[in-house]
Amino acid sequence: MVRQPLALANWKMEMTIAESLAFLERFQDQAGELLTRVQVILCPPYTALKPMAQALHNSPIQLGAQTVSAVASGPYTGEVSARLVADAGAHWALLGHWELRRHQEEIDETVNRKAHRTLEAGIRPILLVGEENGVAPERTARALIEQLTRVLRGFTAGQVASMAFIYEPEWAIGVAEPAAPEHVGAGCRLIRRWLASCYGQEVGQRVPILYGGSVSPAYAQRLLTLPDVDGLGAGRKGRDPDAFVQIVRTIAQARAPNA
Ligand code: PGA
Repeated sequence: MVRQPLALANWKMEMTIAESLAFLERFQDQAGELLTRVQVILCPPYTALKPMAQALHNSPIQLGAQTVSAVASGPYTGEVSARLVADAGAHWALLGHWELRRHQEEIDETVNRKAHRTLEAGIRPILLVGEENGVAPERTARALIEQLTRVLRGFTAGQVASMAFIYEPEWAIGVAEPAAPEHVGAGCRLIRRWLASCYGQEVGQRVPILYGGSVSPAYAQRLLTLPDVDGLGAGRKGRDPDAFVQIVRTIAQARAPNA
C-alpha cells in the first residue's frame, strides 16, 4: 500500500500572526508542486489558526492545533476545545507532546480523552508516542506498547485508521541531532506492527508514521531510507521556511519520486 508522505511543522509558543503569514508566503513560493506530492501540516499557535486558514484558502496545506482540551465544552477558562479549533480551520490536532507531559503533567489517559474529543469534533488526531528520558534500551519496546495501549483505549479499527502517529522519544527533542536511524527504524516498525496486530494488517499498512525530534535538512535523507517512516515532524526547523522546504523536498524525493 502506498502511504501519503507527510511533513509537519510544530511552531510551539512562537510565531505571531504576521510572522506566520510571512512564513506561509515564503514557504508556498518555494514549495510549489511539492505540495501535491507531500501532505504538509502546519501547527501554529491557536492565535494564528484562523488567519492562516484564511490565507490557505484553496491550498493543499492543512492546519493542526498543538493540542485540544480533554473536555468537549463547558466552563473551563483558558481551555480550547476540539470543536473550537475545527471552527478556526484545523484539520488535525497534535496530541501527547512531551512538553505537555513535562510542563502540564499530561498523562496517557488525558491524551486518550483528547483523541476522543478530536474525532468527535470531526478532525484527526496526530498522536505523539515515544519513550521518556532514562528508559533503558531493553525497556523501550515495552514502554512504547504500554503507551500505545493507553492512548488508544476505546477506539475502533476504523477510527485508528484515520489517525497519524509521530515517533518522538523525549530525549530526541531540542538537541543537536535526531535519534540514530536504527533507533528510529526500530521504533516506527514496532508501532506499525503493534497497530497491525491490534487493528488488522490494513490499518497497520495504511496509517502514516512520522519521526520527530531534532529533524533538520542535513539529517532528513537518512531517516527517510527507513521503510516505516512516512514523513518527518520538525520544531525549530519547521519555523524556518527555507529549511522546512528542504525537508519537504527530501521527503518528496524519497517517498513520492515519480508523482
Ligand atoms: P525540534 O522539536 O525539532 O526543535 O527538536 C521537535 C518537537 O518538539 O516536536
